Amino acid sequence: MDPDRDICLCFHVSQRKVVNYLRRERPRVASQLSECLGAGTGCGWCRPALEQLWKQMQDGEEPNLTISPEAYAEQRRHYRKTGERPSTD
Ligand code: FES
Repeated sequence: MDPDRDICLCFHVSQRKVVNYLRRERPRVASQLSECLGAGTGCGWCRPALEQLWKQMQDGEEPNLTISPEAYAEQRRHYRKTGERPSTD
């Protein structure tokens, strides 16, 4: 994902802001990312993505979502309409 694209579309929190927060604050649990400009506290769509970035940081990887911003936003539209997330199978 382009670091300047939003992970939390509700509160316009970019991947760069989330990653900088992860580096600076070293949150012990992923839910602490809500302290990063409210990320994840709106519709809830981005919470798995936030958890993934947090996990990547915990595992010593460079935090980065591989999904395109367009696909991410489209999946969120579907989620907001139906409450369903895409299958991870
Ligand atoms: S996209 Fe982050 S809470 Fe809605």
